[in-house]
Amino acid sequence: MTKVFNFSPGPSKLPQVVINKVEKAVKEYKKTGKSVLEISHRSSEFGELLNEINLNFEKLFHLPKDFNVLLLQGGATYQNTFVPMNIPKNRNLGCLVTGTWGKKTAEDYSKIFNNFDVFEARDRELETYLDKEYSGFQNIDFLHLTSNETIEGLQIQNFNTINHKNLIIDMSSDLGSYNFNFNNLSYVYAGAQKNMGIPGVTICLVKEEFLTDSDNPKYLNLKLLAKSNSILNTPPTMSIYVLNLVTNWMLEMGGIDYFQNKAHEQSKEIYDFIDNNSDVLDCKVENKFRSKSNIVFNFLNDEHNKEFVNLAAEKGIIGINGHRSVGGIRVSLFNSIDDHMFDYFMKYFKNYVIGIK
Ligand SMILES: Cc1ncc(COP(=O)(O)O)c(C=O)c1O
Repeated sequence: MTKVFNFSPGPSKLPQVVINKVEKAVKEYKKTGKSVLEISHRSSEFGELLNEINLNFEKLFHLPKDFNVLLLQGGATYQNTFVPMNIPKNRNLGCLVTGTWGKKTAEDYSKIFNNFDVFEARDRELETYLDKEYSGFQNIDFLHLTSNETIEGLQIQNFNTINHKNLIIDMSSDLGSYNFNFNNLSYVYAGAQKNMGIPGVTICLVKEEFLTDSDNPKYLNLKLLAKSNSILNTPPTMSIYVLNLVTNWMLEMGGIDYFQNKAHEQSKEIYDFIDNNSDVLDCKVENKFRSKSNIVFNFLNDEHNKEFVNLAAEKGIIGINGHRSVGGIRVSLFNSIDDHMFDYFMKYFKNYVIGIK
């Protein structure tokens, strides 16, 4: 097999131990005589899988008793329709927009809700919104934000300080990479394909009191989905199986603390290097909000951006080109990026920079 170092923003690299287990289970799942691809969502083995995932989430995230784990489909994008459709129409919604994904959410919400406010945040103002004393969210019943803007590389880890008690957070690109508490959260969701597994399943952590009755059709009906333990219809069994493997692996590695430290150390090393070479490199994100999951930067000379990506590919380093809307470079340091991979990238990065000076 060709050896590559995959720094893609998602679907992203999976830990090798997870791939090895998948390989075995595709051949035969737990002595059942059939492949994991064939297991029924109504079978006892699938029920066990769901129970294990629930327990793993409780352990990893210290999930409060009044939070439900739902495993849905349609990716994070579907949540932009699903969430507002499950909020009574007489409530006020707001979106704190810090980048591309939050903007898309606000656009979709505005098609469903009239009582709707957008708080556009540029870097300097963002601190105001996070201030415990900020009173601008008082008339909002539910406030949406994106904790990590994957394209711009802007992250808000300290959303627990926001002066609002019903946050809805898109954590697609950073769930599982640092600790937070659920005190001011109502609803957290994430497509699994970055830190938590493969595409097909969306993880939703939902507070009991958010589950209101609605006469929505079935797959838009949050309360019905919660009651059925996410198996109102056929769920993405394979993606759920991989989610279970990934959560087991996360616990074995030492839980969220381990990944938080790893992301801190790796991202510090790379940002320090960028800052120390500001004659050729630039990171536009303000220090406080620099993402530890997606490092977005550029070479001042655009020719170097292209060359850096192309030469990296020759060394097996892939997935590091910036999003087409912003250009430059994006290095995604998700949980699966171990020190060996990181050091390999940094060696290439440092040599390249020495070479162009
Ligand atoms: C923060 C964030 N939100 C939403 C999405 C969209 O996810 P999906 O493709 O699962 O709909 C992405 C995809 O990269 C993302 O990074």
